Amino acid sequence: MANSRKKIAVIGAGNVGATCAFVLAQKKLGDIVLLDIYEGFAKGKALDMSQNGQVLNYDGSLTGTSNYEDIAGADVVVVTSGFPRQPGMTREDLIAKNASIVKQVGEGIKQHAPDSILVMVTNPLDLMTYHMQKVTGFPANRVCGQAGVLDSARMTHFVADAVGCSEEDVQAMVLGGHGDTMVPLPRFTTVGGIAITHLLDEDTIEAICQRTASGGGEIVKLLERGSAFYAPGSAAAIMAEAVLMDRKRLIPASAYLTGEYGLDDVYIGVPVILGASGIERIIQLELSNEELSSLQKSGNFYKTQLTELLGY
Ligand code: APR
Repeated sequence: MANSRKKIAVIGAGNVGATCAFVLAQKKLGDIVLLDIYEGFAKGKALDMSQNGQVLNYDGSLTGTSNYEDIAGADVVVVTSGFPRQPGMTREDLIAKNASIVKQVGEGIKQHAPDSILVMVTNPLDLMTYHMQKVTGFPANRVCGQAGVLDSARMTHFVADAVGCSEEDVQAMVLGGHGDTMVPLPRFTTVGGIAITHLLDEDTIEAICQRTASGGGEIVKLLERGSAFYAPGSAAAIMAEAVLMDRKRLIPASAYLTGEYGLDDVYIGVPVILGASGIERIIQLELSNEELSSLQKSGNFYKTQLTELLGY
């Protein structure tokens, strides 16, 4: 019997990859293949999660592998393979190690899942997303990066806490790179449709923005080994869902810019419509001079890094 189920490949069966697969399984989105350089690690996690199918009520297959032939026909590939940060490191400190992993993984994807849509998670996110697009040669709309869903969720959490309201009623908007140059946008962050600039004082908003920008680092420091994975893995699953179900979500994501916001030939976090063809549209917000210059500063920072550290 022909199988019309969707297929999702998750590369890297570590903390982020396994969390992403776990969320995808519970959402019943299709068959999941977990690929890791360590075959037993991927197989063991897949088997453990498969044995949870009855308990959490999901079906479909969940398999582990180290062989790229097994990702053939994947509709979406989520890439989480790579080293996470340790205390004291910036995401950019991971560049050299993770760039070579992305190259190896990209070549496997290009050969075996040439029609897939890629959701990058490996850090430094915006640089690795650019690198992956170059390695695969996929059209830029089919390669995007997960950062804004996570950064906005972090901001949402802090806003809900400060306002004393449900997280469900908060809509945060965080643009820019997934790092110290991140650009949280209070004017575009609302609670029940009301901008937080009407609900919270300036100092509180400033503290929220700063905690959001260093949200990942706060967790790295607490964990003392490795970095955040529940929220990053879930955020990547939400992006995969948007593509698989053609949900046309309006979310911030790392996208390839060709002049939008005055930036060119760089991947950076901007609001997009994410659907079956990947990034279907980039939304151009009317930013204030200050907001726009923060976004451009972030984009230019990564452009310099692309040239100086990755040779683009
Ligand atoms: N091919 C496939 N898998 C690989 C490769 C490779 N070339 N190199 C490493 N891996 C796998 C590792 O074996 C490991 O299982 O990637 C996995 C990474 O998992 P963790 O070390 O648990 O790291 P994790 O916390 O999941 O973070 C992964 O996501 O958020 C980012 O900064 C984070 O870059 C990091 C990535």
